Amino acid sequence: MAEEKKLFKVTIDNITIEVEPGTSILNAARMIGGDVAPPAMCYYTKLKASGGKCRTCLVEVSAGSTADPRPMTKLVASCRTNVMDGMVVKNITSERVIDARNGVVEFLLINHPLDCPICDQAGECHLQDLSYDHGKVGTRYEFQRRTFEKHDLGPYIQLHMTRCILCFRCVYVADQVTNKRVHGILDRGDHSEIATYIEKSLDNDFIGNVIDVCPVGALTDRTFRFKNRVWFLKPVDAHRDCPKCSSKVTLWYRGDEVYRVTARKDQWGEVHEWICNECRFEKKKTSDWVIEGPTKVSRHSVISSNHYVKMTMPQETLSEVMGGRPPKITMDIHNVSEVNKPNIHLSELPGPAHSEDFDNQQ
Ligand code: SF4
Ligand code: FES
Repeated sequence: MAEEKKLFKVTIDNITIEVEPGTSILNAARMIGGDVAPPAMCYYTKLKASGGKCRTCLVEVSAGSTADPRPMTKLVASCRTNVMDGMVVKNITSERVIDARNGVVEFLLINHPLDCPICDQAGECHLQDLSYDHGKVGTRYEFQRRTFEKHDLGPYIQLHMTRCILCFRCVYVADQVTNKRVHGILDRGDHSEIATYIEKSLDNDFIGNVIDVCPVGALTDRTFRFKNRVWFLKPVDAHRDCPKCSSKVTLWYRGDEVYRVTARKDQWGEVHEWICNECRFEKKKTSDWVIEGPTKVSRHSVISSNHYVKMTMPQETLSEVMGGRPPKITMDIHNVSEVNKPNIHLSELPGPAHSEDFDNQQ
């Protein structure tokens, strides 16, 4: 008879579960689920050696184990610390953790621009969620922020380094999922940056997955940039007969039009299976796919908003309070998008904007 495996008992935020030896505190907390699971900006289950960079997953260990119940003096990264039998962990029940997480978010936002209104990642950005939970209204930073030029890394991917939080996920994807890595993190400390150094393009067959793993809007899909907001799209699960990958994807529809294709993600925002560039960038017709049905979206996500029936539009009052004058445009989307034709004014289109209104090649 097979020997029964000994499980470790761990208590996280007063909830006790049993897990296999070798499980990290983060994964044990994810088994409990909900708010007990710490946020993770750099750890990614499918990527070996990920984690330990961002410190958003810090937790307090108030008892190390049954054999040695002393508390750990410092907060530990839950993605890189394994559970011990009898360990007691505090996440949201610890003031020290909440205070430290607030500090980590403040550091992450030192250089990160607050450009959510024009960022394609808005609505599915982990840093945006984290800022809502732990961010401050103002900043204490008085120095100039780091800014970088945007770079097109080949035909499909754009790097906006100013938004990067140096989580290393895209580097691990290139290392572990593709057969050749041509980008990495160059330089040290405040000078660190993601780069291909001599402007090589990322054109490997599976390199599009860097877009899905990027927790912020630093790596974006050039075939989708500025085409639509994610909360206006309807996600649908689909697959096709692909010789290169599992092709289990999510199609993002507006009306009958597929605006983008992504890998399917789990409740922690991590992809189930990597998909190839052809499925992601080149198959944007419904006829290319076998539709499985609507994607299950958490009702807390902004993506599940806007699907109301019998919607009544609020009364437009701006021009009324401005004595009949229309409001002035404070930002011209043509200056930032690099996609919209300069002669197209979104506010003047008769209905919602569709991709035929834009230049498809950008
Ligand atoms: S580009 Fe995105 S995935 Fe790559 S290190 Fe920066 S934040 Fe992480
Ligand atoms: S998720 Fe643990 S340090 Fe980043």
